Amino acid sequence: MSGSRKVVLDTDPGIDDAMALLYLHACGNLELLGITTILGNASIENCTNNALFLCEQFGITAPVYRGADRGVTGEQPKDYPDFVHGINGLADIQVTVAGKSAEDQDACTYLLESSNANPGEITIIAVGRLTNIAMALNKDPTFANRVKEIIFMGGAATCEGNVTAWAEANIIGDPEAASIVFNSNIPLVMVGLDVTLQTRMSQPFVNSLMPDLSPLQSLLRSINSVYASFYKTSQNRDEFPVHDSSAIAYAHNSDMFGTEHGRLSCILDGEQRGRTVFVPSRSGNHQVCLSIDSTAMLNDYLNNVTSAYR
Ligand code: BDR
Ligand code: CA
Repeated sequence: MSGSRKVVLDTDPGIDDAMALLYLHACGNLELLGITTILGNASIENCTNNALFLCEQFGITAPVYRGADRGVTGEQPKDYPDFVHGINGLADIQVTVAGKSAEDQDACTYLLESSNANPGEITIIAVGRLTNIAMALNKDPTFANRVKEIIFMGGAATCEGNVTAWAEANIIGDPEAASIVFNSNIPLVMVGLDVTLQTRMSQPFVNSLMPDLSPLQSLLRSINSVYASFYKTSQNRDEFPVHDSSAIAYAHNSDMFGTEHGRLSCILDGEQRGRTVFVPSRSGNHQVCLSIDSTAMLNDYLNNVTSAYR
């Protein structure tokens, strides 16, 4: 298992983002310095509100910084995947934030300042589109020299996409941002559909994470039942993929993954827009996860979360 890491989570909560945050908080070797939000599964207002709400529900004190409300080229979103995550991004449950509020600094400024305060030490775990990080690189290209690593959930190297035949949701959400990040020379680990579709959670698994009838069990049960019903209706599967938590699993214990080194690029034009192209090479500073021990990962999730929330 890797040693202790200073982590910033960039996220668009999002039902699977919520599950990832729960897991991250339970991993003793991951020190969560801050959470930056990004539009994606819902609007930036909803995603930021959801992040604040989840922090309160999970007992997380890390500050939350509101991120971009549009792509790095300035393009505004046309719609959100409410058919997966609900209109508010969190299965349309009641999201009431008791007291926590977003910081005055925005996500881009926080990314730059935290990297200045901790040069070479911060791992960014990005589980949404890569817009905030691309904005930070555009504002200050030296940011690239101060980030230790980005572990991102997104892309598909060896399998089909989940939005188009070529593209995965986080990458097609802002392909120009992905391209800026891929060209930045920051060491990258891609935790894409190649592995996230291989690990599946079920509703009984989710229910087993918390004591029966506790408020947290009720919260997890409600949001995941909506997520599960999307996969049941659209794919006739009783189990749903573990996207964002797989990036946390890699940060927590990369031994559970098989990876290959190389270089990533992102196609920006034509029908393959948003496709991640991976060219293996021993010297490349990108790694792509190609296999995962799913049983080990689910056990790790269960063990960490159940002991943290006993
Ligand atoms: C990714 O897209 C988002 O909807 C999920 O939260 C995850 O980050 C999966 O393709
Ligand atoms: Ca996400």
